Amino acid sequence: MNIAIVVGSNTDSISIDSFPEWLEDIPDKYFNLSKEKYGPGDYGLASDCGVAYYVKKHAPKKYKIDLLSYKDIQLKKFNEYDMVFGMYEPYYYFTDKRVNKGDPKKALQHFQKYCSIIQQYKGIYDQPLPLMKYILNKKRYLMDCKKIGIPINDTLFYNLRTSNQKNMKGLIEKIQKKCETEWLTSTFITKPEMVGFSKGFQKWKVSELGSKKFKDYIQEMKKSTYPKLLIQYFVPDFEIFNEVRLYWINGKYSHAIGTIIQPDSLNSDWEKISFSYPENESDEGDHVLDMKLMRQLKKYGKKVFDILPKDKHNEYPLIVRTDFGCCLNNKNLCRDYFLNEIEYMPNLFPDYNPYKDPLEAIGKEMIRRIKNQ
Ligand SMILES: Nc1ncnc2c1ncn2[C@@H]1O[C@H](COP(=O)(O)OP(=O)(O)O)[C@@H](O)[C@H]1O
Ligand SMILES: [Mg+2]
Repeated sequence: MNIAIVVGSNTDSISIDSFPEWLEDIPDKYFNLSKEKYGPGDYGLASDCGVAYYVKKHAPKKYKIDLLSYKDIQLKKFNEYDMVFGMYEPYYYFTDKRVNKGDPKKALQHFQKYCSIIQQYKGIYDQPLPLMKYILNKKRYLMDCKKIGIPINDTLFYNLRTSNQKNMKGLIEKIQKKCETEWLTSTFITKPEMVGFSKGFQKWKVSELGSKKFKDYIQEMKKSTYPKLLIQYFVPDFEIFNEVRLYWINGKYSHAIGTIIQPDSLNSDWEKISFSYPENESDEGDHVLDMKLMRQLKKYGKKVFDILPKDKHNEYPLIVRTDFGCCLNNKNLCRDYFLNEIEYMPNLFPDYNPYKDPLEAIGKEMIRRIKNQ
């Protein structure tokens, strides 16, 4: 059986100093397929390539495992394989400057091209396209979560594709009303769909509504071909409490990381992050994630699988991350977390996992899936 793993995200890296033993012998030809630049001549290995190398090294020899790059995203190439794991998936293709040369229209075309190749591909592509499309549509899954009782942050959605002067006026009035009558806030945030790394994230004063800056921003988001804009109450606690990210491999809880992103580094090339871990998983990190909270979040996280599209080959997705933020805009004495986001190809922060090797954990599940076919 021939297996391909597409890599090349060039991000979410592990530094050579932190390499687990099994990774130490990775040849340059693989390392160079996906690496993050730290400085001149200094690179870390991107997590996608780390996982791929784990599979290449540990899968039984009867399986031929090839690592592919973005240049191999062709139907003919894919059809040489029985299975393709897209660690580098359509969203990365969409954002890849090597591919789109900074042209948003090209970016969208490439995204669609990759999706259509997956659709026509004869073998098994993991993760499945319906899952990806579902999770890329934040409005849909946030609404579905709300329906099944998973708390979410109240959100306004604005369709950027159909945005025009008239719609924008309506949006401005809607935000103003929300802020004044429901959210009781003078500060709100906007963030587009189909982004990662907080791209496009922006904090606003209500008094800026209707300003040239606000209108220019909407135009900019529309030009960037993002489908929708999300508007939320500004949650000040994001800067104080951990956003807790739960990793689920094949539908089972694997591990969790709490992060606090330094606010002034949001929407920049290097987010400054502080890390924390559940009490029973690691005592390293800046804070401890409380076990009672973890039990609650695991319950919510587990429920998310009820709404994710099912696939005919595997009951559960290879990897999903559920991110919970704090705190809901209410007066409860205890602080209430809410589901902020679901990710299907999440950053693994491989340099910041003191007790679990996430590259190995995902690699192992991929090998199980390969053997199962
Ligand atoms: N309503 C909000 N109020 C304050 N900060 C927010 C809010 N929503 C998001 N953020 C901050 O922006 C970051 C990125 O937002 P997120 O929804 O996770 O999008 P993505 O990770 O896809 O860029 C969050 O991790 C958080 O630090
Ligand atoms: Mg996020």
